[in-house]
Amino acid sequence: MAQNIYDRAEFFENYARLPRSERGLLGAPEWPSLQRWLPDLQDLDVVDLGCGFGWFCRWARERGAASVLGVDLSENMLARARSLTTDGAITYRRADLERLTLPERRFGLAYSSLALHYIEALPELFGILRRALLPEARFVFSVEHPMYTAPAHPGWVLDAHQRESWGVNQYAVEGPRTTDWLAPGVIKQHRRLATYVNLLIASGFQIAALEEWSPSDEQLAAAPQLAPERERPTFLLVSARVA
Ligand SMILES: C[S@@+](CC[C@H](N)C(=O)[O-])C[C@H]1O[C@@H](n2cnc3c(N)ncnc32)[C@H](O)[C@@H]1O
Repeated sequence: MAQNIYDRAEFFENYARLPRSERGLLGAPEWPSLQRWLPDLQDLDVVDLGCGFGWFCRWARERGAASVLGVDLSENMLARARSLTTDGAITYRRADLERLTLPERRFGLAYSSLALHYIEALPELFGILRRALLPEARFVFSVEHPMYTAPAHPGWVLDAHQRESWGVNQYAVEGPRTTDWLAPGVIKQHRRLATYVNLLIASGFQIAALEEWSPSDEQLAAAPQLAPERERPTFLLVSARVA
């Protein structure tokens, strides 16, 4: 059974205060990178895995998607998504991505932002998605970067010259990590970068592009607080297509 941390009050209150929660896609610094990989959405049926507050679902409809299915485990997240949405072509469905069912050959785009690093049964989910996508469809997603998820005790360490570095250990040991991010006891799944890529290939996807996101010069100038995100890759961004 998946951990439903977004329905824990302390976690949800802290998550709801993040810029990406309050400002939506514009508060997510990796969004410009993901956005440039998205196809023309006109008349596509779209699925958003771990849709959260539904920011991408609404954006996809503004860009002409015929329908959007937003899937999430958290009642808190879905309640906020529904309260922000007045569009009958967006359906929010409460479901666990660990055992998702989807209709076959239905969607022209699958999208997921920062949800798949919570999922243990990722090979199964990729297989279900592959079958749910139409020929030529895209699968665009982000996860926390493996350098970020690897450490047994994530955090900054001081080197011999008192410079801060992100301490990476246990990189080759894949599996759950329990971290204190926004609340104690958050469980994420660590996978190596090669594992993500090989799982996609084995599931019948071609890799179109990868990005190990860090802020651009322009983003740093506008938001100097992003500077630590240059010291380690924060997010892994993936654009794949049905092979
Ligand atoms: C970091 S939030 C991202 C939300 C949204 N995609 C965004 O970028 O704003 C991760 C989301 O994944 C959802 N999630 C985590 N594990 C899940 C699971 N097993 N099944 C479905 N949703 C899950 C959480 O409830 C949460 O809404």
